[in-house]
Amino acid sequence: MQLGNVLVFGGTGMLAEATGWVANHATHTIAFGRDPHKLARLAKNYRIETKNLDYTDMDALRENVINAYKEHKAIHMVVAWIHRTSPQAVFVIKDTLNQLQPHQQWTLLLIKGSSSRLSDIKETQEESLPNCTIKEVRLGFKIEAQGSRWLTHGEISDGVIQAIRGNDKETIVGTLEPWHKRP
Ligand SMILES: NC(=O)c1ccc[n+]([C@@H]2O[C@H](COP(=O)([O-])OP(=O)(O)OC[C@H]3O[C@@H](n4cnc5c(N)ncnc54)[C@H](OP(=O)(O)O)[C@@H]3O)[C@@H](O)[C@H]2O)c1
Repeated sequence: MQLGNVLVFGGTGMLAEATGWVANHATHTIAFGRDPHKLARLAKNYRIETKNLDYTDMDALRENVINAYKEHKAIHMVVAWIHRTSPQAVFVIKDTLNQLQPHQQWTLLLIKGSSSRLSDIKETQEESLPNCTIKEVRLGFKIEAQGSRWLTHGEISDGVIQAIRGNDKETIVGTLEPWHKRP
């Protein structure tokens, strides 16, 4: 599988394994984050470029997307696990890439997880673009004999990798129902 040039936001923590998998299957991968230690750990283990970015800063976000495009000529995939702290970030990424590469086919993989608000996980507000395939990964929880538990880092990364490999527009990792049974 060849993913082309990939940008990853929110991929330096629990998602690090999936980010590494992306790096192994991409032409070039850039992972963005704030914590230099997490970025350094990724760069040590994988063939990946890392950049310091706080994605709540819209100007910096836009500038980083533009720079990545200028350097690599096309962006084929964006993997984004972006928290509620930055509600405009996904729009800014989409809008910026749409202006830069209106004829380039690309994939936007959005990961959604919340321990408290089911609506944050389930809602789809993304406006579709003709040249952009949007895939959503919804993180739930596991119900087991002893009770319920949140997903492990491995399960989250496996779910994201499965979503990248497959054609489904929606991937639910674990279960979202019944929501009141969450840990
Ligand atoms: N369903 C489940 O089983 C499950 C399991 C675990 C977590 N969750 C949910 O998933 C969510 C994420 O948890 P977490 O935050 O602890 O995950 P995390 O993976 O440890 O950290 C979040 C990622 O986003 C990046 N990030 C956060 N804010 C950023 C910012 N302003 N600018 C740039 N990068 C930023 C972090 O990088 P930097 O640190 O470098 O900024 C890191 O890569 C929570 O809502 C949690 O409830 C669900």
